[in-house]
Formats: sequence, C-alpha cells, structure tokens
Amino acid sequence: MGAELATQVLNADAAAIAAAARVLARGGLAAFPTETVYGLGCDACNAAAVARLYDAKGRPSFNPLIAHVADGVAAHRLADFDASAERLAAAFWPGPLTLVLPKHASGPVAELATAGLDTIAVRVPSHPVARQILAAFGRPVAAPSANRSGHVSPTTAQHVLADLRGRVDLIVDGGPAPMGLESTIIACIDAPTLLRPGALSRAAIDQILPLKDLPSGAIGEEGEVPLAPGQLASHYAPRARLRLNAERVDAGEALLAFGPAQIVGAERAVLKLNLSPGADLIEAAANLFSQLRALDACGASSIAVMPVPEVGLGEAINDRLRRAAAPR
Ligand code: TXA
Ligand code: MG
Repeated sequence: MGAELATQVLNADAAAIAAAARVLARGGLAAFPTETVYGLGCDACNAAAVARLYDAKGRPSFNPLIAHVADGVAAHRLADFDASAERLAAAFWPGPLTLVLPKHASGPVAELATAGLDTIAVRVPSHPVARQILAAFGRPVAAPSANRSGHVSPTTAQHVLADLRGRVDLIVDGGPAPMGLESTIIACIDAPTLLRPGALSRAAIDQILPLKDLPSGAIGEEGEVPLAPGQLASHYAPRARLRLNAERVDAGEALLAFGPAQIVGAERAVLKLNLSPGADLIEAAANLFSQLRALDACGASSIAVMPVPEVGLGEAINDRLRRAAAPR
C-alpha cells in the first residue's frame, strides 16, 4: 500500500465541498455521501489517481468503476445512449440508477477506471453533497463504495473512517446515506439487462420498460456484478496472444516490460513499453490497460510480458494479465 495519509473528516459545508474538489483535482482520494451509500472518489480521467484508489480499497482485482457525473449532458460525453438508455436516464436521473453503456473510444475516462472494457458504468447521483462536489470539480469522478474490499458498503462517514483511515485524504460527512443500498445497475448494450438489483426498485423500472434478467446465479457474492458473465464478455481481451513471465523476447514479439532489468532480445521487440521503469506497482497499474491496448494495436501476434511481483497492486495486475492471456 502507498504511504499512510492524514485522513481529514469535514462536515459537508461549502468549505468541505471546495476541499473535496481540490483533493480530486490533485489526484487524491475523497469519500463523500451519495443517496445510496458513501463513495470513494477520485478523478476518473487520472489513471494514477485511479490506481491509488484500487490500492486504498485493497482490491485483489480491478473491478470496473462507476463514473459519477453532474448531469445527463456530462453523461452523454462518456457513452452512447440507445433509446432504452435515454428513457431510463430521463425517468431516474438524478437518482440511484447506474447505466452500463458503450464507452466513447476517445472519451476522457482512464482505461484503468473501466478495467480496459469497451463499456462504461455511468451514474448521476441525486444527493446534494455529491452533486455539489461533482459540479465544483467539473469532471467525471470514479467512485466505488467507500469500503475495504470484501467489507460491506458504508452508509455513514464513521463506517468509512473505520475502513479507510490513513488510506484516503478526505471524508466529507453528510450524515447517513438516505437509501443505504447501492444503485441498481442496468446494461443497455443490447436488450436492457439488470446487472445488479439495488435502490431503484424493479417495480419502478417496469413502469418505463421491460428488463431482461441475467441467468440466476450470475450475480456474485455481495451483490457484485460478476467479472465474466458470459454474454457480457466483461473483461479486457487483447487480440494478440500474451506470453506471461517472459524471460526473453522472441522474433516478431512486442514487449510489455516491468522494472529496470533488460531481458534477452528486448532490442528486437516490435514495440516495447514499460509499465514502470522504476518498478512502482501503482504506476504500473495506471499504465496497464492503455499499454496493453497500444501493444495490441502495433500488430504483433504475441506480447511477451515480464514478471510482475505478486505484492500490493501486483496481485490485481497479475489477475488481469492472466485473464487477458487465457485461451479464448
Ligand atoms: O450506489 C452505488 O452504485 C455506489 C455509489 C458510491 O455510487 N457505488 C458502487 O460502486 O456501488 P461499486 O464499485 O462498489 O460497484 C459497482 C459495480 C461493480 O460490481 C462493477 O463490477 C460494476 O458496477 N461495473 C462497473 N462498470 C461496469 C461495466 N462496464 N460493466 C459491467 N459492470 C460494471
Ligand atoms: Mg462495492
């Protein structure tokens, strides 16, 4: 984990909102209330900040994060809305609904925030404190629930402090989260599909349009969306073959390096990128998906990947590398 931080807790007044916007702007981590649960926010466009956020949560893998924005106009800058998505957004935003949509390829959100996917989860929260922070900051905020990985979602600032003291810069205390249950997640990729039941009721959604369910058992423990629910192909998959723990680069291969060491054949790599020349795992996480995409795009049929230590964020990096390397 990164260095211990002096976690500040502030009551949700104008000064706290300005402080949260400043923390986000400098790549820090700020927890704040939403109408569902407390979120742990960072600048969604800053890959290093997103890497710090995964590190603070202690996530053993990179789950894609929800991009929180101030209004529908900002949401439309990030993703494509089909007719169903437009109707759901018009009916329920701002509010406890998250839409998973095709991501704009040239959008500003960091690859790491969406775990390299071609889709993005977007939400416009209704809580006044969340709205004011989003308006003051002016960019998308990536925010998972503000708990340590494996713990339940926090509904008060005290819960957040108990889980994340020393790991985040600021907690804005706006009292208990009114709903106490995470947002309902609906994917509008083809037929609108319920990915996670949540604070927006099924009955309310049924008034607007019919929903397809995922097959029963598809929703994982803790109500989390599974990483690979088959039909949603929801983890990053390069076209090129990945060769993990490579100790040399073979002819025609591209190279994903890590750390200062030179491996045999590195000079003949079709393209060589380094996750972190200084072997910093937070920097490596920030670069992971964008570098994989760049190497995949260079046309090599195989990418040699140097070993990444299985400590700290290295665990999540290796998890994603193994998934990307799995035969398809
Ligand atoms: O109420 C909420 O939604 C809270 C507040 C803070 O907004 N946030 C929240 O985030 O619950 P989190 O990260 O704890 O849960 C988000 C879920 C994860 O299960 C993740 O896998 C899923 O959304 N998700 C995010 N992007 C996705 C995508 N592109 N495709 C499929 N699932 C996605
Ligand atoms: Mg969560």
